[in-house]
Formats: sequence, C-alpha cells, structure tokens
Amino acid sequence: MASSYNLFCLTLIIASVCTVAHCKLSPNYYSSKCPKSLSIVKSSVIAAIKKETRIGASLLRLHFHDCFVNGCDGSVLLDDTAKFTGEKMAAPNNNSARGFNVVDKIKANLEKECPGVVSCADILALAARDSVEYLGGPSWTVGLGRRDSTTASIAAANASIPAPSLNLSAIISKFKAQGLSVKDMVALAGSHTIGFARCVQFRSRIYNDSNIDASFAKSLKSKCPKSGSDNNLAKLDAVSQTHFDNFYYKNLLEKKGLLHSDQELYKGSSKTDYLVRRYVSKPSEFFSDFAESMIKMGKIKVLTGSKGEVRINCRKVN
Ligand code: HEM
Ligand SMILES: *[C@@H]1O[C@H](CO)[C@@H](O)[C@H](O)[C@H]1NC(C)=O
Ligand SMILES: *[C@@H]1O[C@H](CO)[C@@H](O)[C@H](O)[C@H]1NC(C)=O
Ligand SMILES: *[C@@H]1O[C@H](CO)[C@@H](O)[C@H](O)[C@H]1NC(C)=O
Ligand SMILES: *[C@@H]1O[C@H](CO)[C@@H](O)[C@H](O)[C@H]1NC(C)=O
Repeated sequence: MASSYNLFCLTLIIASVCTVAHCKLSPNYYSSKCPKSLSIVKSSVIAAIKKETRIGASLLRLHFHDCFVNGCDGSVLLDDTAKFTGEKMAAPNNNSARGFNVVDKIKANLEKECPGVVSCADILALAARDSVEYLGGPSWTVGLGRRDSTTASIAAANASIPAPSLNLSAIISKFKAQGLSVKDMVALAGSHTIGFARCVQFRSRIYNDSNIDASFAKSLKSKCPKSGSDNNLAKLDAVSQTHFDNFYYKNLLEKKGLLHSDQELYKGSSKTDYLVRRYVSKPSEFFSDFAESMIKMGKIKVLTGSKGEVRINCRKVN
C-alpha cells in the first residue's frame, strides 16, 4: 500500500517537473538563444504601425485567431497549397485576417539575427503585446517557447472563433471551450477599442437590432447599404479607433457597439453588464484584467519541448 502510494507521488512529481522545466513558457526563453529577439520584434512592430496604424489591431487579432484554433501554434499563418488546407479561407479569416506580410518581415529580421530559433507562434504573442503597448494600452510579460504546428484546421477555425451574430451565452461558450472565463471574455473583447470591421459583419446590427442608438445606426447606413459594399469599413470604436483605451465599453453604455456581439455584453439586462460598467469607471482595472487574460489566452494548448517545430517560413511547414 505504502509503496504504491509513494510510486503514485513520484509519478506526480515527475509529471510536475516536466511542466515546470520543459513544458512551460518562460519570458527568458530566448535570453541566451537570441538575446535581441524581443527588441527586433518590437522595433519591427513599431515600424509597421507607423506605416499603417491599423496593423496593430490586425496583429492583435491574428494572435487571437491563432490561439482559438487548436492552440497558439502559428497555424493561422500557414498558406493553402495544392496539398495543404490552411485556415486563411475559414469564414472568420477570409477577406478579414491581415498582417501576414508584417509577420513575414518580422520573421525575416529574426532569421537574419538567429536562424531557426524564434517560432512564428511566439512572434504573434509578442507582436500582439507590442501593438497594444504602442497604441497606449497595457503591457505585460510574454511567456515564450511556443513551437509551431505542422498542421492547420479550417474546420476548427470555422467552429471555434466566435461570430459577430452570436448571443451572449454562445459567445461565453466559445471562450469557455478555450478555458477562458466570462471575465476573460469581457476583458479581451475590449480589443475592439482598435481596428475596423466590414459592413458584412455589422449590416444586420444596423438594420435589424433594436438595442442600438438610432443616430449611430443611421450614420453607418451610408457606408453600409442593405446590400453590396460588403467590404466597406467602419471603426470598431468610433470615438478613439487608433488608441487602446476603454472607450469600447463607454460606447456600449450608449448602445453604440458596432457588432451585434459587442452590444450583447451590455444590454441593461446582460449578466456581463457589471463588468462593462466596471471597465468604464475603472480603466486601470480594464488594463490589468486585459493583460492577465492575454497571458492566459497566450497559453492555450501551446506546443513546447520537442513538439512541433520552429518554422523557417511562417507560411509553410519546414
Ligand atoms: C468576443 C467575441 C469576438 C467576436 C464575435 C469578434 C468578432 C470580430 C469581427 C467580426 C471583426 C471584424 C472582422 C471583419 O470585418 O473582417 C473583429 C475585428 C477585430 N477583433 Fe474581434 N471578435 C471577438 C473577440 C476578439 C478578441 C478576443 C480579440 C483579441 C484578443 C479581438 C480582436 C479584434 C481586433 C483587434 C479587430 C480589428 C482587426 C483589424 O482592424 O484588422 N476580437 N472581431
Ligand atoms: C473568400 O473570399 C473570396 C473573395 O471574396 C471569395 O471569392 C471566396 O469564395 C471566399 N472563399 C471562401 C472559402 O469562402
Ligand atoms: C469553413 O468555412 C468556409 C467559409 O465559409 C467554407 O467554405 C468551408 O467549407 C468551411 N469548411 C469546413 C471544414 O467547415
Ligand atoms: C443563443 O443562441 C443559441 C444558438 O446559437 C440558442 O440556442 C439560444 O437559445 C440563444 N440564447 C438566447 C438567450 O437567446
Ligand atoms: C433583417 O431581418 C429580416 C427578417 O429576419 C431579414 O429578412 C433581413 O434580411 C434582415 N436584414 C439584414 C440587413 O440583415
């Protein structure tokens, strides 16, 4: 009895040693392998945002779309080929996910410095952080050591990334399926303080939803007619689209959420109303919760140790 109990404990200890020493992300992962890697990513991200402000939003979203599809493994970056189906044509990504050329540029800069060392999945995690920080949002320490997948799943991308037509309980389920809480969801949705959405994503919101500010809806209808102009853009945060702040939540209190899914978080009767009000009145709590939830999202089903690979070209498996 006693010895089988000891064996059981030993097994647990070995399992946890693996978690700590080999299987966990570490902020110092590249400290000796590629000491300049973090500053290379940061300066590349800043250069790209200076060229086009929106790219910060696009990079943040790529990390989200990577992590929600079988984990943060760079799968979203893989191109389709005759023999390989990536995730770029999935419903949430087609004509929508962007920033791939910037990721290529960052990767090329890293390959020059230390070939084959920094994974594409880690580039996405760092670029998301650097973008938020540069646009005036919070910063956080990014755990590193993710490895890249050799596979992708268009089916999982279709199924796992939440659509803007969903109601609150469906959105919560999509996050729960990733191990993320209601609070994580509300904090992370604050990402919609930057960037744009296409007419096709908010058309039914401005023509058919009732909990929308009438003049706000009206102002969007010229850009987004009942049919056609599907790719016309509107700011997700009409007040301060280039600044990472808490106006996303303030807009929700005024029924000025752009997406149906955005307004689901605050309806005067939603179970998440209190979180929206909290982030309106306490921007510093939004920032600290956002940072905490980004760290949590960045750990979803990561490949570490000898799993996966470090891609040389983020668009294709080695
Ligand atoms: C809560 C569920 C969410 C839904 C339903 C949703 C949906 C969308 C949609 C429909 C768009 C516009 C895409 C287009 O028009 O092509 C968008 C844009 C965006 N989303 Fe979300 N999203 C959600 C959560 C998140 C999260 C968790 C993040 C990041 C952590 C995020 C970051 C962004 C950013 C930054 C943009 C703007 C991208 C750009 O301008 O290129 N979203 N989202
Ligand atoms: C992706 O978008 C293009 C251009 O709008 C369209 O022709 C194509 O059918 C879409 N692909 C899928 C798989 O939806
Ligand atoms: C994923 O969505 C795209 C675009 O709607 C569709 O063309 C494709 O058939 C879907 N694939 C799977 C496996 O769900
Ligand atoms: C939310 O949507 C799901 C399907 O996506 C539906 O089954 C459910 O009844 C809806 N919930 C509410 C409260 O409308
Ligand atoms: C609004 O809802 C009606 C009835 O469900 C539907 O026929 C129509 O296509 C919707 N309009 C838009 C712009 O989504």
